[in-house]
Amino acid sequence: MVESVVRVMQEDYSEMEKAAIYRVLRERRDVRAGYLPRALDEPTLQRILAAAHQAPSVGFMQPWRFIVVRDTALRTAVHRIYQCANETAAAIYSGERRELYARLKLEGLLEAPQHLCVVCDQASQRGHGAGRQSMPETSLYSVVCAIENLWLAARAEGVGVGWVSILDPAAIKELLRIPPTADFVAYLCLGYVNAFAEIPDLQHVGWQERADFASVVRTDYFDQPYALDGNTR
Ligand SMILES: Cc1cc2nc3c(=O)[nH]c(=O)nc-3n(C[C@H](O)[C@H](O)[C@H](O)COP(=O)(O)O)c2cc1C
Repeated sequence: MVESVVRVMQEDYSEMEKAAIYRVLRERRDVRAGYLPRALDEPTLQRILAAAHQAPSVGFMQPWRFIVVRDTALRTAVHRIYQCANETAAAIYSGERRELYARLKLEGLLEAPQHLCVVCDQASQRGHGAGRQSMPETSLYSVVCAIENLWLAARAEGVGVGWVSILDPAAIKELLRIPPTADFVAYLCLGYVNAFAEIPDLQHVGWQERADFASVVRTDYFDQPYALDGNTR
């Protein structure tokens, strides 16, 4: 028989605590420039990683693995992998968009004092496959939940995080000895910053505006808008 779970009494968050949560969500930014050269102190790094480890996961699988990349030669090699991938990526654009793309700063690999590779260990038997029978990709979704936790905790600690996805996963896997049974999910730059931008960089440089909130919420059917004014017919 399964013992009944001990529950902690529900205690409301204070208005200040709620405001802090919404503030960190609003003020989290992807950071590619402005990293201070100062190394992350170990307790802060470990707090951020532990926050990631609190994330939800399918079947409680916790398939995330964090590789703290410290070796300078490895970090330089990752930057080279980025340069190759970015040349290919740039080639799909033409005209003004191509010129704009060329001006985008899409990584801070050489400036950031800390690199972190995030991997999904698909071979893990943890969770006994619960929740993954019909949607095996949920292991990857779980890892992305951990990354978002990390990103938010880092923001609260004054640490900028930049997600670099312009990379050849096979090259990263070979470089960091990631086995075939694991998937490379993310390569992150981390470092203290003096300031976080108010709006996303891509918005600032005119690459892409934030989508209108009303355009992403629907009622009942994919093609039926949601009345954000509270008018529900
Ligand atoms: C899965 C994922 C991959 C990303 N890859 C890159 C990248 O390779 N280079 C980059 O500059 N930003 C990358 N970003 C950051 C996005 O550009 C950024 O989140 C978006 O422009 C919104 O800005 P914000 O995160 O500051 O709100 C990535 C973000 C996500 C979630």
